[in-house]
Amino acid sequence: MTGRAAFHPPPGFRLLPGYFSRAQQQALAGAVEQAAAAAPFYRPAMPRTGQPLSVDMTNFGPLGWVTDREKGYRYEPAHPVTGRPWPPMPQMLLDLWADVSGYPAPPEACLVNLYGPDSRMGLHVDWDEEATDAAVVSVSLGDRARFRIGGVQRKGPTASMILSSGDVVVLGGAARRSFHGVDRIFPGTSSVIRGGGRVNLTLRRVTRP
Ligand code: SIN
Ligand code: FE2
Repeated sequence: MTGRAAFHPPPGFRLLPGYFSRAQQQALAGAVEQAAAAAPFYRPAMPRTGQPLSVDMTNFGPLGWVTDREKGYRYEPAHPVTGRPWPPMPQMLLDLWADVSGYPAPPEACLVNLYGPDSRMGLHVDWDEEATDAAVVSVSLGDRARFRIGGVQRKGPTASMILSSGDVVVLGGAARRSFHGVDRIFPGTSSVIRGGGRVNLTLRRVTRP
């Protein structure tokens, strides 16, 4: 035997393949499209450098995750471009959270990431919440993506897997503090998102209940 042992995602990581049926994926994509009409996708910027991310974003729920050059990563109750409150979370997402999070309070933020053919998401830890005792729950819709997850150290070993439309990922327990990201999208692999691309919906509890 040569090489190092395969890295396994930390405990608390769960991949639920095909959690949503095709019909449910389409219903969810429709709900996202409708909510995004009120809270349009925009392109956020990195703290300090102002470098634009490679995904478009919007949010649903009482709080939304935003980033810009001046104030960096944070949660805000209103859309940075329209100034209006974020639209309510689709009921299907509240039901998903109740089913898989094991948390006694509802999610407060649903970050919506829209990936085009060249979008990616560098390795990062979701750590802007007070309620880090709650899992992060995410849904993939549309084109397939290669998702990567490691441990608590940025430079440590990682594992990768393909996420397909309808898949749900739960980052709870030790995996809540794990580095993760998206290496690449496989364009044209799904017709669930009108106009193509991939949508990732990330549900988070922000404040402690
Ligand atoms: C993220 O962790 O920010 C996004 C994960 C994904 O798109 O699957
Ligand atoms: Fe994340």
